Amino acid sequence: MDNFTNQQKMHGVWNSRWTFILAATGSAVGLGNIWKFPYITGENGGGAFVLVYLLCIAVIGIPIMVAEVLIGRRGRMSPINSMKFVTNEAGRHGAWTLIGWGGVIAGLFIMAFYSVVAGWSLHHVIETASGGFTGIAGEEAGAKFGGFLANKESVIAWHTVFSLMTFGVVAAGVTKGLSVVARILMPFLFVALAILLVYAVVKGDIAQGFAFLFDFKFDKLTGKGVLVALGHAFFTLSLGMGAIMAYGAYMPAHANVAGTVITIGILDTLVALIAGLCIFPIVFANGLEAASGPGLMFISLPVAFGNMPFGLLFGTLFFVLIVVAAWSSAVSLIEPGVAWVTELGKFNRTISTAILTFLAWLGGMACIYSNNWEGDPEKESQFHVFEGLDFITSQLMLPLGGMFIAIFAGWLMNKTVVAKELDAEGHPMFEIWRFLVRYISPTLVALVMVITLYKTFTAA
Ligand code: TRP
Repeated sequence: MDNFTNQQKMHGVWNSRWTFILAATGSAVGLGNIWKFPYITGENGGGAFVLVYLLCIAVIGIPIMVAEVLIGRRGRMSPINSMKFVTNEAGRHGAWTLIGWGGVIAGLFIMAFYSVVAGWSLHHVIETASGGFTGIAGEEAGAKFGGFLANKESVIAWHTVFSLMTFGVVAAGVTKGLSVVARILMPFLFVALAILLVYAVVKGDIAQGFAFLFDFKFDKLTGKGVLVALGHAFFTLSLGMGAIMAYGAYMPAHANVAGTVITIGILDTLVALIAGLCIFPIVFANGLEAASGPGLMFISLPVAFGNMPFGLLFGTLFFVLIVVAAWSSAVSLIEPGVAWVTELGKFNRTISTAILTFLAWLGGMACIYSNNWEGDPEKESQFHVFEGLDFITSQLMLPLGGMFIAIFAGWLMNKTVVAKELDAEGHPMFEIWRFLVRYISPTLVALVMVITLYKTFTAA
């Protein structure tokens, strides 16, 4: 039995090229686009940061995404077993399989804090819909969010609800779970975002929002801003941990990989930019701060919606949108691990999903219990798992994973095999991709990582 038939039997395939595009876009579009992108853009001065971010997506992100899809398609299994397959095929050292292992672990780490933040978003859906933010003032909203975070039972409850939602989809499988969610939720997300954009144009300060995002004031861009932009390019495209590799394994036999990946990159970028164009005009129209950090979405936006006409309706729609985006991303965080456990042949998919979900849930509990959201001075020096996991994954594991994936695909795989798997023999784009993945992406990632780490550890 060849890889393809074997894999089809075990996991299933996307039933069309568009299902793959929607599923991968579902993985890419998440809290990274709607929560993280606007606030890091705010913190790093707007336009110039956006430009660097777009360059990182084009020159580093897209080529590495092609490499991930390539390896997944070639191996047709979980990232661990796909890496094993391509490593054997190319006659390389077994240590390269570590890319797959690192990915499964990084996925669990990210899922741990991701599902906590997604839980906050679920809480905000209910709070907004029930009028909890109507007419609220800035300070009051800050205190209210602080009060919610200090109430551990409630944070745990929402974290658990979100974990169960993710479990439900992944346990249902590639065809009945992941595909269905992608095909229903993604169109909903696009429509909801379009509605919110119209609302922001009509009721918000669109001119100021637009200027903030697209006026390239280079004096506002710092070295750190460049590093943040690169790290975010990985995070937002779901790169470096095998999520896209796992999804690539479920691709139909023939597909134009480059075109597909570029479509996903464009959709993900559009969603981030449109989210910014929804959020900043609303924030500015209410005289709020653009650079208010992670609280932008959980504090400033409720204030804005709470004081705008039809804010209850559109505010609720906004938080539903975030939950939907987070949900379709979370499934891709545990899928690589679930696929691998299933391939061991001891457990069925439901049990495998339960194991992975439970491990990530425990990680989330560690985030919740080690935090100091209530500002207790006695806990000031305690290690915060939440920030720790975010740092280890975004700044170390994802860029390293991405770099090794690029090196493996660019230098160690057989060129003819690669060209064939990408359906790109003799295409000029293929040579450009190969050049980027061999020379440009790994070099830039290495450079940025060395500088980030140097700065982090000398600053401490
Ligand atoms: N890309 C998602 C977001 O922007 C998060 C995500 C899902 C992710 N799967 C991933 C990040 C894999 C890194 C690796 O919210």
